[in-house]
Amino acid sequence: MQTFIKIDNYSINIRGSTGALIVGKPGSGKSVLVSYLLLKLMSLGAFPLIADTKRSDFYSLKKILKKVNGVQANNRVCATPNQVARMLRTLNKLMNDRYVNHTEYWGWDWVDYNLRPIVVVFDEFSATLSEADKATANEIINYLKQIIFKARQMGGIYVLLASQRLTADVLERNISSEFSTRIGMQNLDRVSLGLAFPGCNLGEVPIVENSPGHGLIYNDRFNTMIPQPFIAPDMSRVSIPKVFENLEKKNKVNNFEKESYWPWN
Ligand SMILES: Nc1ncnc2c1ncn2[C@@H]1O[C@H](COP(=O)(O)OP(=O)(O)OP(=O)(O)O)[C@@H](O)[C@H]1O
Ligand SMILES: [Mg+2]
Repeated sequence: MQTFIKIDNYSINIRGSTGALIVGKPGSGKSVLVSYLLLKLMSLGAFPLIADTKRSDFYSLKKILKKVNGVQANNRVCATPNQVARMLRTLNKLMNDRYVNHTEYWGWDWVDYNLRPIVVVFDEFSATLSEADKATANEIINYLKQIIFKARQMGGIYVLLASQRLTADVLERNISSEFSTRIGMQNLDRVSLGLAFPGCNLGEVPIVENSPGHGLIYNDRFNTMIPQPFIAPDMSRVSIPKVFENLEKKNKVNNFEKESYWPWN
């Protein structure tokens, strides 16, 4: 199974990794970068799940999933905090089923067992939390925590979480630092910087060009704590819905292990 994706000159391994955190002010290029990563992961065979409570770009992918897979695909795209909580509950159950059903070989992970990777898109995470009532917000955070802390070995779950702001209310420091890849689009405020790139002296953080698509990237396999400048791919000439549809169709031929407890169609 191929598990590397390229961002600019950097090669990121999704194996042994929980996901990518992407922070940046409005218009800095978060959603464009998330769509690039989503398509890259789908080209490795990943199964997409989407949370977009602002009902912006990603929400429109719902009709494509429905066209390719039928109405049962409706629950793969969430537009309300309640739907997000339900989707994460289902995903947690799948993760636990994967652990329970794969114990034969010591030290094996989801790649060794040829389990299908899953990509979860969270566009505007802070907006979803602020829309949710307290109980639902707590539920979302708790499920997300379990995924972030536990999925690394057998989950095969890769979370793409984009947020305008990063504060300790949105994502506790111990969760944000679990993301193996952390990206700041354009220049961040000091609070977001400190949460996105903990353990690095803010004075050492490079200044990046203030135009969309420019940012800083950190990965826990780089040999420095200092985030590095990068330029995200320009997707303006790519028909994202069309490529998404083609990949979803192609991935209907499932070459991964058959999982009897698989909760989606
Ligand atoms: N990598 C890039 N190269 C060139 N242009 C880009 C790139 N990324 C984004 N842009 C331009 O910036 C615009 C805004 O990008 P995007 O929607 O991804 O921002 P965002 O951070 O998600 O904003 P919001 O917070 O409003 O959702 C895009 O419509 C595109 O024109
Ligand atoms: Mg956006």
